Amino acid sequence: MKVLCFGSANIDYLYELEHFVLPGETISSKNLTKNSGGKGLNQSIALAQAGVSVEHAGCVGRDDGDFLLSTLHSYAVGTKHILKVDCPSGHAIIQVTSQGENSIILYTGANHMLSEEQIDTVLSDFSSGDFCILQNEINGIESILRKAAKKNLRIVLNPSPFSPEILNLPLELVEYLFLNEVEASQLTGLDSLSAIESDLCRRFPHTKIVLTLGKQGSVFLHGSVREVCGIFDVPTVDTTAAGDTFTGFFIASVLREKPISHCLQVASAAAALAVCKKGAAQSIPTWNEVEMFCLHHQPTAFASQESI
Ligand code: RIB
Repeated sequence: MKVLCFGSANIDYLYELEHFVLPGETISSKNLTKNSGGKGLNQSIALAQAGVSVEHAGCVGRDDGDFLLSTLHSYAVGTKHILKVDCPSGHAIIQVTSQGENSIILYTGANHMLSEEQIDTVLSDFSSGDFCILQNEINGIESILRKAAKKNLRIVLNPSPFSPEILNLPLELVEYLFLNEVEASQLTGLDSLSAIESDLCRRFPHTKIVLTLGKQGSVFLHGSVREVCGIFDVPTVDTTAAGDTFTGFFIASVLREKPISHCLQVASAAAALAVCKKGAAQSIPTWNEVEMFCLHHQPTAFASQESI
């Protein structure tokens, strides 16, 4: 069984500020770092850090993509399905405040240069039962979804950042659907947790749904199965890539055939460790670090709030 992460790779410019820049305001940042990121690259690295052998597929810029490729190589992520194209790599301008909150501007760049030919070539290397992990920072998502489903790949989708096109995707083809509270609300048009859960279970009865609800914790839904997990309460330095870390470690735990309660706990612990460090890819812990952390820490009780 092979694992493919078909997704974005971004050069993240991380600006550290006292507060987010306001309309009409000019402020100097306290620090600037250039890091590797992008939801696809982060999820590939989270899987690799959790011990999964993963191939990343996508596009980077011919002139600036080596920075991203060398990061993926350093985590032993496979890069043979990454094409260099004549366009700058995707990048993100990330503001992080001293409270650890972030706000992100994305430039899609090479991430939106996928062709049908590349999609076909990549998928021809995978077969029935292999995993295909997707986010929403590349073009061609619908095509990849349909073609991967036709080949009987096991599809994981984290439709982040959410865009209206997500509403028209054949989401019933997805085996694992990861949504944060904002995405769950946008997908259902609802804002009460119980209504959102009922709606998702009714519309996608065969899909395993994982909701990440910030400080409340996380919820797994599949048919009549509902499992919840609280959070590991840690001081927040930077939340960038916490969701990607959660997704990568959850799927890695599924691949290790752990029970769902354990998958939620490991993913939450990994995300907690990621928020303790600055940056995206470089904040993602190893499986051993997560195991050690879980030996000495317990999650809070799931904070059941009706409104999300
Ligand atoms: O999920 C975090 C990521 O979102 C960042 O690394 C940034 O590149 C944006 O894609």
